[in-house]
Amino acid sequence: MSSFDAAPAAGPDAPAAPGARPSLREPGWWRTAVVYQVYPRSFADSDGDGVGDLPGITARLDHLANLGIDVLWLSPVYRSPMDDNGYDISDYRDVDPSFGTLADLDALIAACHDRGIRLVMDLVVNHTSDEHPWFVESRDPRSPKRDWYWWRPARPGHEPGTPGAEPNNWGAAFSGPAWHLDAASGEYYLHLFSPKQPDLNWENPQVRQAVYAMMRWWVERGVDGFRMDVINFISKDVTLPDGPVAPGAPHGSAFPGSANGPRLDEFLAEMHAAVGLGEQHLLTVGEMPGSTIEVARRVTDPARDELNMVFTFEHVDLDVAPGGTKWDLADLPLPVLKRNLESWQLGLADVGWNSLYWNNHDQPRAVSRFGDDSPEHRVSSAKTLATVLHLHRGTPFVYQGEELGMTNAGFAQIGQYRDIESVNRHAAALGLGTPAEEILRSLSVKSRDNARTPMQWDDSPHAGFTTGEPWLAVNPNHTSINVAAAQDDPASVLAHYRALIALRHTDPVVSEGDFELLLPDHEQLWVIRRTHGGRALLVVANCSSQPCALAGGEEPTGEDDLAGLRALVADADVLLPTHPGRQGLELAPWESRVYAFGA
Ligand code: NOJ
Repeated sequence: MSSFDAAPAAGPDAPAAPGARPSLREPGWWRTAVVYQVYPRSFADSDGDGVGDLPGITARLDHLANLGIDVLWLSPVYRSPMDDNGYDISDYRDVDPSFGTLADLDALIAACHDRGIRLVMDLVVNHTSDEHPWFVESRDPRSPKRDWYWWRPARPGHEPGTPGAEPNNWGAAFSGPAWHLDAASGEYYLHLFSPKQPDLNWENPQVRQAVYAMMRWWVERGVDGFRMDVINFISKDVTLPDGPVAPGAPHGSAFPGSANGPRLDEFLAEMHAAVGLGEQHLLTVGEMPGSTIEVARRVTDPARDELNMVFTFEHVDLDVAPGGTKWDLADLPLPVLKRNLESWQLGLADVGWNSLYWNNHDQPRAVSRFGDDSPEHRVSSAKTLATVLHLHRGTPFVYQGEELGMTNAGFAQIGQYRDIESVNRHAAALGLGTPAEEILRSLSVKSRDNARTPMQWDDSPHAGFTTGEPWLAVNPNHTSINVAAAQDDPASVLAHYRALIALRHTDPVVSEGDFELLLPDHEQLWVIRRTHGGRALLVVANCSSQPCALAGGEEPTGEDDLAGLRALVADADVLLPTHPGRQGLELAPWESRVYAFGA
């Protein structure tokens, strides 16, 4: 039991025991917390093999402590064949040798706790690796584990292995069909991701109990919560119906049949009780592609004892052409993005809780995607995107390097990519006749490898990430964008993130205040008002690479709105600016100001 586990909440007047450290898990602690995601493979390599590892993370923890974050979310470090960089797990109770040992992980947990940082593990239980002993056993049709996965015969009237013989028409997320034929038994198994990631059958109670036992084992080891990978996929429509087929698509969609099934709430509540997620005040965040506000509201309703919060995908699916996949690029007008975040704020205002994110290991870099990563505007746009997100209500997630304004990778050749999704996409699209330049263009915008280039610590040849050959190329811009350069620079993106995180910790308007979007249709300005206990914060952010006047000039949304805003900011104090010292009614490109009102 770690010294920070589940200390009973002391009454408000209870004196602290001499020398006692405060519990890191008071009830509801995550409502004022900021989470930092580490993608271990790309964070810091301690042994020169070119792959990041646990001792590397421990050695860099002071960077996180100085940033002021409360939680470290560790992407998977379990034993894995690494088909999907660790999201294919072959042993839930061991660490992959490429990342270190269980002892290294214990040391990281202890080092986090010493700094007041909680550690949250990635929990990948919609699927295992095909090399997990459960699946190996399950390959035998007579095995009691056969039912732990989704084994099905060929479609009636079809010979196994012939075109269209798969049990249904679902496509896998990493291209190709979602079914793989096992020649030995002549049956197919379901894999919503790669064939090396077979889906577990959560309908089987033994599967669920095995997962809960494993989770309890990690809690006893000292972890403070779980980020749950595609957790809404654990309940499927058990009839596995064919999905809709988009024009020209080789497969049907696995949505809606594979997600948000009828037993999702039941499974989550069962897990909550069986692991003691509530009593121990563990942080839980469920990754939920394809979930609506209604689902999120239900799942995060504290009265239902399911999850603390979910990751929505709606705002990161807005730059997709209608009916297309993530590779079909489309422009994203600012009002559409603002309205989407607003709908989640309002939808979960009185019940439930939001997570807030621009970035993670699956998404391109925020400054390249939503900001302007040109040398002229990179710093300002990274700061302003951070200001806007962190001034929403919810728990913000910072992805490694975001606090530096790290940019997309800039890869121009397929040989530079390592991500299974990107490499498979390239092959599949070429096979369908898509021009190579078009595929490379969409990869350069959307590939997950954009987020996975090594963390930029300094301006040395491999950015201080490794002394060896990095598994994925370091971005050449590490010579100027790196921790060492930003560390003591008050004008850096890093300094701005520190200020935003500190503000959330000290100002209840940021963590708890009511949310209001002003000027929703303005195409440059993102204006938010937060109010709480007679105080208010107003964010005025120019989310464009052109100056924006609050007075005169082109006023696309009408004089009344802007007049109201002018009146509001006339005598207010600027609490947190991106451009200190600038005042007046014109905002520079990507300038934002947080104004404070009231005592
Ligand atoms: C979501 C994870 O974030 C992603 O990286 C992974 O490939 C899939 N789930 C499958 O585990």
